[in-house]
Amino acid sequence: MKFYKSTGVLESLFENGELINENSVDASLEKHVPFCEIKDNKVYVTIGEVVHPMEENHYIEWIAMVKGNKIVKYLLKPNDEPKVIFDYEKGSIIYAYCNKHGLWKKEI
Ligand SMILES: [Fe+2]
Repeated sequence: MKFYKSTGVLESLFENGELINENSVDASLEKHVPFCEIKDNKVYVTIGEVVHPMEENHYIEWIAMVKGNKIVKYLLKPNDEPKVIFDYEKGSIIYAYCNKHGLWKKEI
């Protein structure tokens, strides 16, 4: 799936803005690549292995799970924990978007 940057967070899924490339920014991998634990048919996702900051001007805006044409997306705010739980589907991709360091992904 391709993500596009636009003025509104919700519009980031549609092809009306600048294409965002994954894992392309020179930033800490440990703080951005989704860290995923699969247990009892759930995926427990934390961004990242070293938890990403959730400050006013630097935070994870959203975390999404994509499988085929299905997407489940959680929007986050500063001071939220960068953690979500999805129903596990084999072959899914977890995406995270940092407002400073762009798009990151992990296949599960
Ligand atoms: Fe970041």
